[in-house]
Amino acid sequence: MCGIVGYIGYREAWPIVLKGLKRLEYRGYDSAGIAIINEGGQNIYKKVGKVAALEEFAESQDKTGTIAMGHTRWATHGVPSDRNSHPHTSNNNKLSIIHNGIIENYATLKEELISRGHEFKSDTDTEVLIHLIEEIQKIEQTDLLEAVRLALKEVTGAYAIVIMDRENPDQLIAARKGSPMVIGVGKGEYFIASDATPIIEYTKNVIYLNDHEIALVTKDDLLVKRLDNVVQSPLIQELELKLEMLEKGGFDHFMLKEIYEQPRSIRDCMRGRIYPEEGKVQLGGIKEFVEKLKNIDRIIIVACGTSWHAGLVGEYLIEEYARIPVEVEYASEFRYRNPIITEKDVVIAISQSGETADTMAAIEMAKERGATIFGICNVAGASIPRLSHAGVYTHAGPEIGVASTKAFTAQVTVLTLMAFYMAQQKGTITQSKLISLLTELDSIPDKIQIALESNDIIKEVAAKIKDSRNCLFLGRGSGFPVALEGALKLKEISYIHAEGYPAAEMKHGPIALIDEEMPVVFIATQNSSYEKVISNIQEVKARKGKVIAIVTKGDTEVKKMADYCIEIPDADEAFLPLLATIPLQLLSYHIAVMRGCNVDQPRNLAKSVTVE
Ligand code: G6P
Repeated sequence: MCGIVGYIGYREAWPIVLKGLKRLEYRGYDSAGIAIINEGGQNIYKKVGKVAALEEFAESQDKTGTIAMGHTRWATHGVPSDRNSHPHTSNNNKLSIIHNGIIENYATLKEELISRGHEFKSDTDTEVLIHLIEEIQKIEQTDLLEAVRLALKEVTGAYAIVIMDRENPDQLIAARKGSPMVIGVGKGEYFIASDATPIIEYTKNVIYLNDHEIALVTKDDLLVKRLDNVVQSPLIQELELKLEMLEKGGFDHFMLKEIYEQPRSIRDCMRGRIYPEEGKVQLGGIKEFVEKLKNIDRIIIVACGTSWHAGLVGEYLIEEYARIPVEVEYASEFRYRNPIITEKDVVIAISQSGETADTMAAIEMAKERGATIFGICNVAGASIPRLSHAGVYTHAGPEIGVASTKAFTAQVTVLTLMAFYMAQQKGTITQSKLISLLTELDSIPDKIQIALESNDIIKEVAAKIKDSRNCLFLGRGSGFPVALEGALKLKEISYIHAEGYPAAEMKHGPIALIDEEMPVVFIATQNSSYEKVISNIQEVKARKGKVIAIVTKGDTEVKKMADYCIEIPDADEAFLPLLATIPLQLLSYHIAVMRGCNVDQPRNLAKSVTVE
């Protein structure tokens, strides 16, 4: 994780870098730092805590200069502290570096450098890299670009780095492998950042640096070469991002804004892809693999966190409609097993950010073994879509709250479309059924709008359970992944311990925890497992548990038993996850706000997990 920003040009660099760091805070907020060069030399300011703490700390300092770089940290090597904050400097303090990623062989390199007289000021892996560059420059007597290139050939791990030399204030050097990096191309200025959000208000023209590329950036020019010294001609692309997408737009938190955006984000996700009257789904991104899809043996879905929950929903839908066996795997486990993968397998990798290290490693392994990779991703141009053979973007727009909301429902929407698309191609669904499902899918954004109208009731329920120490979420069928996602949301942002469980499994363990203190949230909508869920509710009530039930509008049965009911509109079972998730997102949100938690930036978490 960690966010990096660099600027070189004709404007004052400090405000650009500082604002950029605030945009990238979703990547980590353990500490922040900025290095800036002016005629007086290089000034480095760094502070533990959020970017706001750095801003305050540097308030009365000299911050002039037209070249600068900054970093917001998610700690890996070394505790969050001022001294472990980036930028880090070389032994002679001449060179400075910011880094997102991990240098895995830092310990051996550090030992070697210490034996050569280097003294280290921090516990980080990053500081080792800048000392190594300094050492290589000294021994090889080369320019900085060549020294960085040679040093990067010696390191293992992942990095997006920017380097400044206080004696060469006309250049920045940047490089990447495994961690994201975007270069904004202006007139007489360049911007470097972990994603496009710090760049968007200055230029729409960007270059996505590739792995193993290194760039020499001056205010008027950019040279990109590969680590093997071959010069590249980078492709300039135009950003689709709009500035207003990055603002709260009147909501108290990004998370709330993103919850309320879901009718729109799901519509955007379906636009141009469904034709209800014709009973047709069109997915341009995977259409060249249509013949393959007709003959595959199975699908393996790999993902992490919330995206893994979307994968579980996908399993229900694909098996139900396309009749293809599906396995859903945590990418972090899958990559370290010795899984059986063949050329007849399709691997679907799901990732909001498109940068999750474990998901990327799982893709690479499956690719080596001959599988076809489909990416489902939200961030355009990120690494996962680039690593995949084909894919489908979720088009949910930038998600800034660390807890994923609209990205999850957009992932589920894409998986629904994929399930219908495969079913249509394989002939496992009748045309009339497809027409009826697509007609209903088309109305799901309006039904989500109705589900959002329960906000006031949800707030009342939140007030009743906000002081609980534990909470259980139960569901069956595709209600099970919804329960998992509800529990994850609650623990992520309110720090209440929560568990999601298949409702029928409760009697094999969690039932022991149930007493009058324990809220149990049931997904109890009217679908194929309704009667069975009612029995599970009774089991909880018999043990004095507090039942909160998500029910279909007009339900009377569950209402007789539950302590609190939250209604969602009636819908085909296929669309239950899209609707039932909405009240659970709002419930966690309100509980977290009532408990005084930082909803958008929960402790210890980061939105983009670029370390394994
Ligand atoms: C982090 C985020 C989660 C996300 C997970 C996977 O843990 O906080 O919200 O679900 O990473 O991220 P991805 O970008 O691959 O979906």
